[in-house]
Amino acid sequence: MRRSDGDDGRSPDTDDGGDGRSPDTDDGGDGRSPDTDDGGDGRSPDTDDGGDGRSPDTDDGGDGRSPDTDDGGDGRSPDTDDGGDGRSPDTDDGGDGRSPDTDDGGDGRSPDTDDGDTDDGGDGRSPDTDDGGDGRSPDTDDGGDGLKNKKKKYGAMWASRIGDQRMVNIAGPHLLEALLKQEGKYPMRAHMNLWKEHRDLRGHSYGPLTEEGHKWQTLRSALNQKMIKPTEAAHYADPLNEIIPDLINKIQELRAKSPSGHTVQNVAGLMYKFAFESICSVIFETRIGCLQKEIPEETQKFINSIGIMLESQSVIERLPRWTRDWMPYWGRFLESWDIIFNYGTNLINNKIKDIEGRLRRGEDLGGAYLTHLLTNGNLSVNEVCGAFPEMLQAGVDTTSNTLTWVLYELARNPEIQQSLYEEVISVIPDHIPSTSDISKMPLLKAVVKETLRLYPVVPENGRIRLEEDIVLDDYIIPQNTQFILCHYVLSRDEASFPEPDRFLPRRWLRSEGIKHHPFSSIPFGFGVRGCLGRRVAELEMHLALSQLIMKFQVRPDPDLGEVRAKNRVVLVSNKPINLQFIDRQ
Ligand code: HEM
Repeated sequence: MRRSDGDDGRSPDTDDGGDGRSPDTDDGGDGRSPDTDDGGDGRSPDTDDGGDGRSPDTDDGGDGRSPDTDDGGDGRSPDTDDGGDGRSPDTDDGGDGRSPDTDDGGDGRSPDTDDGDTDDGGDGRSPDTDDGGDGRSPDTDDGGDGLKNKKKKYGAMWASRIGDQRMVNIAGPHLLEALLKQEGKYPMRAHMNLWKEHRDLRGHSYGPLTEEGHKWQTLRSALNQKMIKPTEAAHYADPLNEIIPDLINKIQELRAKSPSGHTVQNVAGLMYKFAFESICSVIFETRIGCLQKEIPEETQKFINSIGIMLESQSVIERLPRWTRDWMPYWGRFLESWDIIFNYGTNLINNKIKDIEGRLRRGEDLGGAYLTHLLTNGNLSVNEVCGAFPEMLQAGVDTTSNTLTWVLYELARNPEIQQSLYEEVISVIPDHIPSTSDISKMPLLKAVVKETLRLYPVVPENGRIRLEEDIVLDDYIIPQNTQFILCHYVLSRDEASFPEPDRFLPRRWLRSEGIKHHPFSSIPFGFGVRGCLGRRVAELEMHLALSQLIMKFQVRPDPDLGEVRAKNRVVLVSNKPINLQFIDRQ
């Protein structure tokens, strides 16, 4: 693919003075977004940016827009000066979105998007990788370092191909910003055809990951309620705080079984149970017993089914369709999804019975997320049943692996752990943390941000631009192109973060940090299709970490050695992370 901006990935024609920050963010330049729930002063209660608005940690990816923004719900910022068509006014294409200087014969395809200048013989496959041509495979063991090499070679944007599927990889913050700020009304991540097939065969509704278009928007706005804003997520602090003592007990139980009396083997497995219990408690308003001594059989079956479903999926994706009848994977895939759906449906049916009983007895309905969804009339029961399995899919591996990476890095960095401990006991010497306590712990939040920068748990995610072509830098990229947003490469880029491979949480602090492009690390995605559970995930992680660090000193198991990240759709460790949990005096 031809580049036109030199090697630094900065487009020469953006008017951002070269810092990659677009001047047209909708905060009037001061970073105060009208729509944050900051009590109206434009300062999010938990940013540490001193109010300059270019906080490394503003909650909106830097443009003041978040899924609940005042863009009328179409995902277009009200004050971009593109007339609302998503075309930047400063492209000199006469308004048709085609740059005049491409020699593509007007079909909107640049002649050189087909890897014309890669050294792959023109087929889009690099000759020297065994990755099927794109430097990426769902199970690479390099976590994304292979893609970092691609960026070194080709710059911030390059084309690749898997089979017939052509893709454009985005690995520069200004390009990511340009792409995401021109999203249409209904951004689409990728075709989720296998999941849809299951839903279609069984007559289930699609969930937020699989649904598309107008139906997705309707579903998403219903699911956003009581979830998307920090003030809404804050209501889940109590149920989450009820689970944390069980996590602590479980740590004590597990370490007691180890020869040293201190070591918990495979912390990710434990955090998986914690994250699962937490998200079920939030969305189903029910405890499911994941942290009990004996996990209930149904719950264990459900957990196993998620693993089987994902494993079978990764095989099915590589096999021709005709193998479905005589190989076991398709059957296993359907069966495991059935178990997942049945489990969710049972919990929802129980809640419906509970609501009916309360109504009969004239009692207050109480409850939060599920009760609200079932009673406000926006979604049918079938739609709620279709949404919840996908919320669980999205909400367990992500938080559990992030928590594991945080503990791993704190164990390796005892001085940061000590500073964090001092911060936590200065705020909560003797009580369980509330959300307002958390807002007084900037290092805690910086530790989570830095972990998500180093280990973006969704290392890549997709966008398919359906509506029209898009111009990025000098390239016209045709509609229907699959974009890959390379979060791992972006957030480990030295141009954005000096010493990118080091765990330096203080870089996020107002007092010590340096400014960087707001799209250089967006682990929760951006815009109307950004993470639905971000606020809950952050709250869950902050509450758990503050209490774990109060209670334990965390150290690496002496035999642990180096751990590397690998990409299994989410970023996981290449071997079990075993850590010691030593009681603090
Ligand atoms: C560390 C924790 C988490 C991280 C880093 C994370 C990250 C992400 C990312 C990168 C996306 C794609 C965004 C985009 O395409 O722009 C996403 C989507 C999503 N996340 Fe999360 N997530 C986390 C936790 C959660 C939790 C706890 C939930 C539970 C409700 C959740 C629910 C979802 C859903 C439903 C979507 C799909 C939204 C849609 O397509 O409309 N996530 N998440």
